[in-house]
Amino acid sequence: MSITILGIESSCDDTSAAVIRDGFLLSNLISSQEVHREYGGVVPELASRAHQANIIPVVDGALKKAGVGIGEINAVAFTQGPGLMGSLLVGSSFAKGVALSRQIPLVAVNHLQGHVLAHFISDDKAQDHPSFPFLCLLVSGGHTQLIIVRKPLEMEIVGQTIDDAAGEAFDKCAKVMGLPYPGGPVVDKLAAGGNIHAFRFARPIIKGLDFSFSGLKTSFLYTLRDRVAGDPDFIAKNKADLCASLQHTIIEILLAKVEAAAKKFGVTQVAIAGGVSANSGLRKAMTELGDKHGWQVYLPQLRYTTDNAAMIAITGYYKYLAGEFSPLDIMPMARIPLL
Ligand code: KG4
Ligand code: ZN
Repeated sequence: MSITILGIESSCDDTSAAVIRDGFLLSNLISSQEVHREYGGVVPELASRAHQANIIPVVDGALKKAGVGIGEINAVAFTQGPGLMGSLLVGSSFAKGVALSRQIPLVAVNHLQGHVLAHFISDDKAQDHPSFPFLCLLVSGGHTQLIIVRKPLEMEIVGQTIDDAAGEAFDKCAKVMGLPYPGGPVVDKLAAGGNIHAFRFARPIIKGLDFSFSGLKTSFLYTLRDRVAGDPDFIAKNKADLCASLQHTIIEILLAKVEAAAKKFGVTQVAIAGGVSANSGLRKAMTELGDKHGWQVYLPQLRYTTDNAAMIAITGYYKYLAGEFSPLDIMPMARIPLL
């Protein structure tokens, strides 16, 4: 008998629904909320209202695109957290409604686990999946973690940021340059035309496998402040070089710890995941580092890097196979440990 899972993701500012059958993706619809752009960041109350407006059409669209009737769904998986409480409540309430009305199991999914397991989505593009155990660098707007993945549902965080996340470093520095939110993709594009050695920003000295980005952010801010004092057009004239140097520094900080973690745990399978794993510089540098060490490097398809319900559905599928179901009174959690 085939297993069909409906996945729902609503942790931040993307409303998404996906249908996965036996691990194969049939549909993955994402409605991104443009309303936050003018505020330079996500406004939680607006996000939750937009989720309410979007959730029914997005789920309906995902089912139609998959050619699957609601009666064919075996379980509904949803993002339990971490994320914005108002946003999580919309997806979790909707998922509960589906589970209750259809009398099917409810599966709560950790958003971070979803990002990692995005590597196991099968679709019409044939891609190799990592084999276990592997090391995953999870880099998003809210998290920066090094994770040893022993089995689909067995993960251990071995290093993480002690302050800002890598995506936050991109977004905050972009904001200082007057770039639109989210800044990561904009910096990525501008960096392509810049010199990575034009500016030098502070690198943290953090022992072990943890990361820190607050020093870099401050150093970036002070550089701009000092240079703009001498030339009001400094940012406009140097945007590409600033972006290239900033991106290069973030990548160096990340990869130094990836190298140390791979060595410490003796792994040769290395993956990246999360929104920042869409970064072209990181993807290139990761591939080069893999070549240097003889690692097998796994880069997620771009459509599975930022928030999406396909990753929630695939995690739901593994949890379904393991019989990990949730009661209907389960609550979303804004903060939640990986496992
Ligand atoms: O995984 P995600 O969609 O949401 C969270 O779970 O946080 O990640 C969003 C983050 C944002 O900080 C965004 O700027 C960053 O991913 N991002 C990028 C790129 N695309 C998205 N950062 C650098 N380069 C990119 N191409
Ligand atoms: Zn995410």
